[in-house]
Amino acid sequence: MLRIAHALNSQLLGALERAFPAAAVAARGAGQPLDPQLAPASKPEFGDFQANGALVLARPLRQAPRQIAAAIVAQLEADPAFGALCLPPEIAGPGFINLTLRPELLAAEVGRRLADPRLGVPAVGDAAAPVVVDFSSPNIAKEMHVGHLRSTIIGDALARVLEFRGHPVLRLNHVGDWGTQFGMLITHLKEVAPAALSTADAVDLGDLVAFYRQAKARFDADEAFQVRSREEVVKLQGGDPVSRRAWQLLCDQSRREFQRLYDRLDIRLLERGESFYNPCLEAVVADLAAAGLLVSDGGAQCVFLEGDDGSASKAPPVIVRKSDGGFNYATTDLAAIRYRFASPPEGDGARRVIYVTDAGQASHFAGVFQVARRAGWIPPGGRLEHVPFGLVQGEDGKKLKTRAGDTVRLRELLDEAVERCEADLCRRLAEEGRREEEAFITEVATTVGLAAVKYADLSTNRTTNYQFSFDRMLALQGNTAPYLLYAVVRIAGIARRGGAGAALPSPLLFTEPQEWALVRQLLQFDGVILEVEEELLPNRLCSYLFELSQVFNRFYDQVPVLRAEDPARGSRLALCRLTADTLKLGLGLLGIPTLERM
Ligand code: ARG
Repeated sequence: MLRIAHALNSQLLGALERAFPAAAVAARGAGQPLDPQLAPASKPEFGDFQANGALVLARPLRQAPRQIAAAIVAQLEADPAFGALCLPPEIAGPGFINLTLRPELLAAEVGRRLADPRLGVPAVGDAAAPVVVDFSSPNIAKEMHVGHLRSTIIGDALARVLEFRGHPVLRLNHVGDWGTQFGMLITHLKEVAPAALSTADAVDLGDLVAFYRQAKARFDADEAFQVRSREEVVKLQGGDPVSRRAWQLLCDQSRREFQRLYDRLDIRLLERGESFYNPCLEAVVADLAAAGLLVSDGGAQCVFLEGDDGSASKAPPVIVRKSDGGFNYATTDLAAIRYRFASPPEGDGARRVIYVTDAGQASHFAGVFQVARRAGWIPPGGRLEHVPFGLVQGEDGKKLKTRAGDTVRLRELLDEAVERCEADLCRRLAEEGRREEEAFITEVATTVGLAAVKYADLSTNRTTNYQFSFDRMLALQGNTAPYLLYAVVRIAGIARRGGAGAALPSPLLFTEPQEWALVRQLLQFDGVILEVEEELLPNRLCSYLFELSQVFNRFYDQVPVLRAEDPARGSRLALCRLTADTLKLGLGLLGIPTLERM
């Protein structure tokens, strides 16, 4: 990972690549790219970067690495473009080249970012192909659980980052709205609550979930019920109007409930459930057969998987059509991949498709991705990525449950976060002797409570399991939403006291090490965003913002900012302003709105 202003990085890399002597290229063999091994400096006193490439060349060139480094440095010093970028380089240790960006360039970059609403983050061109983010994706008539909440929060943050970069993003909700569950549910409801199948809102989602459980229990125990359920599925898939209407009502019911949650979290999704791909399933099977991939195994149509080297894999085959002729989850996902990469109007014309689900589905996705690739549905450069995340656990390290041992309702979980925030806030206001309007209290508690739930999910490395703890996520100290939201309020307040609209000096001048530390931290923002876009790890952005507030606090504790008639005042206020802007934009990309006061 490189630090500091992405554009400066690439200029520097260019200069280094020019400077590595032609002899070095000869040593690596023609056509071998030569890597200057540019890395962040191991300590701030060594500058911004070090280039370690000279060491690798010592052996093929049969020269001492320091000697090679000296030759490279001589080249660099003769290059005016390099001179405009860096102070004279220094050779250290066995042959590292230490590089320091020109301070006036960094100061000018701070000035530029203050005038740039994108804060230095480049935008991709207009012609960019869509990126699909498949996230949230709960199942109709089943409980939306904490795993779905995690997918919703992580998927939304990734979509926001991609959108900000200028990609057209399709935020797809691949809801489970098709398949055997409806056969059971409709059969059961016909007997116990027929009104639910013909009248909107006859039951609420909670009841629906209970009915689903009963239906499933009957399905597992009662053979006659099983037969009737299967017939019901066939009717539904065959387009029987009564079954269709029942299905529609059940979907509407769940959909409304899901939507309430999305609205509350300010998350937009385009519903395109499994049923959408129903008309494409036959074509999928035909394609796979034509590609010679289908094998009949015990009556089922399967694709056997290969290892990386093309040998047979031990992983179970992907079943495309069951022995009873039915399709399954994998078939639908294959149809979805085919559709998403196909050019419009037959498909979405995407070049990158991202799936946000729990890690438990990793082998499912590995299988369908491989089949799609071998079927030839992925265009050159097309990317298919599974973004897995770990389980949400209770503080006891076990599956998250309510105190009574039930599954946690998402609505109640969010309510509790907000209630706890409100209690904390009222306690703090009382301590400080502050009186505030009810509306203020509600707004702050709601914003902070929801932010805490989102941030807790985003700030852990998503690949590990994550322990859900209200106390930890609501703490005012540490890498938490309340800490960052307070930092924004405080810094914005300082900037305001310094005169919000006041003209800033140009050029900006910095002298103190704490100022430079903050400048360097601020200028990493664009690089971090590009990294999240590439690696799809929102926790990188969280750590960055947390570090930024800490570096800011050190700066503010040690350097006087608001001292009148100090010639440095304007430049220091500029740093406050850019810090506040960066925190606001960064949190916004995580789906977290900020507050003016709290
Ligand atoms: N409905 C699935 C579940 O609840 C998640 C779907 C994820 N997306 C996909 N294209 N398979 O686990």
